[in-house]
Amino acid sequence: MSALKTTQSLLEYQCASFQCTTQCTTQCTTQCTTQCTTQCTTRRPWRKILNTTDPTDPTDSTASTGLNKSRFALARIGSVGIGVPPRVLLNSDMEKLVETSDQWIQERTGIKQRHIVDPGVTCSDLGAIAAMDAINKAGLTPADIELIIVATSTPDMMLPATACLVQNKIGAKNAWGFDLSIACSGFLYAMQVGVQFVATGAHKNVLVIGMDVMSSIIDYTDRQTCIIFGDGGGAAIIQPSASEEDGCFLDFLYEVDGSGGDYLCIPGGGSLHPPTHETIDNRMHYLKQDGPVVFKFATKRMPEICVRLLQRNNLTGADIDLFVPHQANLRIIKSAVDRLGLPMEKVIVNIDQYGNTTAGTLPLALDSAIKQGRLKKGDLVLFAAMGAGLSAGAALMRWGY
Ligand code: UT7
Repeated sequence: MSALKTTQSLLEYQCASFQCTTQCTTQCTTQCTTQCTTQCTTRRPWRKILNTTDPTDPTDSTASTGLNKSRFALARIGSVGIGVPPRVLLNSDMEKLVETSDQWIQERTGIKQRHIVDPGVTCSDLGAIAAMDAINKAGLTPADIELIIVATSTPDMMLPATACLVQNKIGAKNAWGFDLSIACSGFLYAMQVGVQFVATGAHKNVLVIGMDVMSSIIDYTDRQTCIIFGDGGGAAIIQPSASEEDGCFLDFLYEVDGSGGDYLCIPGGGSLHPPTHETIDNRMHYLKQDGPVVFKFATKRMPEICVRLLQRNNLTGADIDLFVPHQANLRIIKSAVDRLGLPMEKVIVNIDQYGNTTAGTLPLALDSAIKQGRLKKGDLVLFAAMGAGLSAGAALMRWGY
């Protein structure tokens, strides 16, 4: 697949999604041309970024670099690190906590074990471990990090942001940062935020962390939720990309449906139900999930968003070298894989080892892919996520090392 193919399809999408005139949209579905750009005058800056470089145009921000690519393609993943607590909770351990069985858990979820923190170990502790792993692998020092984004639903505290705590723990004295909260989709959403800081030229080294200590919000008397979740996650450093060969992001697509918020939520402890003895007695500070409803959403919307992303890039499942899906349930992954027409050899599955670590699953899956030698330079990688919100997302990237 060439960069041009991607660029053209992005143009088609922009025309349709930004509600240009029918005439323009019609033209764009066949081919995006200068003719279209002229008509879309209000959207021209976007189009100039996505279109080929015009070195004579002073408003063309890509002209000086001579690069012919989308904004996303100006950024890549430079390294991946992980932070996982050593303690393992086996399915046989879950059998001692709730009425369940190793067989049921494996058959219904694919999970064999999950990692759980020791008391006192926090999200920022694991985040700092993942951060240093990624920083070392990129050949950087903490002082090189300019921005830290932590995707988490289990911050150390409601405030300050966990990003500030990680910044202090690793000594990233030149970094600012913030947290991003969208549960299991968090790492994918945070990656695009990081990419945009790099693509605009604002920063060169952005640390994106996806980390959750799910054991801090899980009710270990609720067999429907406690068997699924584990603690841990990882980090990636987003850096400038010089060319598609260097590795780069190609496209992102997201959706949220807030009408499904109640199906996966922590009802107590926020501004709706501030903590009281009553909220604690009613166990409202724990994660609540309607498993079958979320399962249905996941099996429908996760593959759908992948297909939409592939289609708008003129791709099919056959073009994908590696699929890195959110690890929520092996049956959800398999249903997405079937829909995309992918063989399982092209899919990263590590839910058996980690369970569902919420924002942690994608960096952990990337790390597994790297360690298993499943990623090589030039591979086209498709990411997919879904979770509370309800939310879903997909991303395409060219792997660079
Ligand atoms: O990443 C965050 C997003 N979350 C998800 O993606 C989770 C999506 N949902 C799921 O993965 C699945 O719905 C679960 C794994 C949570 C549950 O599996 P299921 O196949 O949907 O089970 P179910 O809730 O429909 O329950 C089927 C049966 C019920 O028994 P009866 O009524 O048929 O007798 C449950 O009570 O399985 C029972 N059950 C269990 N049995 C043994 C539910 N949980 C357990 C358990 N062990 N842990």
